[in-house]
Amino acid sequence: MPQIIDGKAISTEIKDELKVKVEELKAQGTQVCLAVIQVGNDPASSVYVGNKKKACAYIGIESLAYELPEETTQEELLELIGELNAKKEVNGILVQLPLPKHIDEDAVIRAIDPKKDVDGFHPQSVGALCIGQPGFVSCTPAGIIQLLKRSGIEIAGKNCVVIGRSNIVGKPMALLLLRENGTVTVTHSKTRDLKEVTKQADILVVAIGKPKMITREYVKEGAVVIDVGIHRNENSKLCGDVDYDDVAPLCSAITPVPGGVGPMTIAMLMHNCVESVALQNL
Ligand code: GUN
Repeated sequence: MPQIIDGKAISTEIKDELKVKVEELKAQGTQVCLAVIQVGNDPASSVYVGNKKKACAYIGIESLAYELPEETTQEELLELIGELNAKKEVNGILVQLPLPKHIDEDAVIRAIDPKKDVDGFHPQSVGALCIGQPGFVSCTPAGIIQLLKRSGIEIAGKNCVVIGRSNIVGKPMALLLLRENGTVTVTHSKTRDLKEVTKQADILVVAIGKPKMITREYVKEGAVVIDVGIHRNENSKLCGDVDYDDVAPLCSAITPVPGGVGPMTIAMLMHNCVESVALQNL
């Protein structure tokens, strides 16, 4: 039987550690504060934003919610970001994505002060990660590193294969595994003989966005499999990019869906909010 990597338990452990740090900061006169902006009322975004606010409350981080109407112009949004950048008491700024089509997401991300970019999406944050300088790291891949470390899984020297090359998961994931001294291969939809490549993986991170695509033919015996996907099937049941029942018996460790990578994203957002205090005092 594989080790089931319990993201829910590990995320709770991290949030409880952060709670202590937030109390210490409070005792020193600093209240950590996150501004969360949502434009429009996409139901999935509302759920994510609600969960972020709940996590803030649990840890003792103050959250300021800005729920803006769908018709908000790019100029209005940029103006709000400018105001929040200038506010000393705001440590982190998060703009929930996706934004309505009439708003240029890249322009919005670039407008956030890199010292408050708790999502780690700003080009300066990505560049800092690339050259090993201090800065915020995208929450989902940062969470995956924590899952591996806290489950006692060594990364150094391992063959790490990432499926997917998005700016939010695949690319920063590859950089983080490299920083941990993994030997990293990034694959994507144009990769030839994908199965042959993924079968070399000691650690396989799957962020491909296709339900249950990864079956046992893609996985080496004894591999560690991390599933970033989350989908709802025809019976409303959640599943990942990995066909769990098919792959799990082959693995040494695997993340379930739900309860694997998912809870880690918010835990790492909270980590970044706490970290922002130190970064702002550099
Ligand atoms: N939409 C989906 N995932 C994310 C995320 O991690 N951050 C933000 N800001 N929006 C998202």
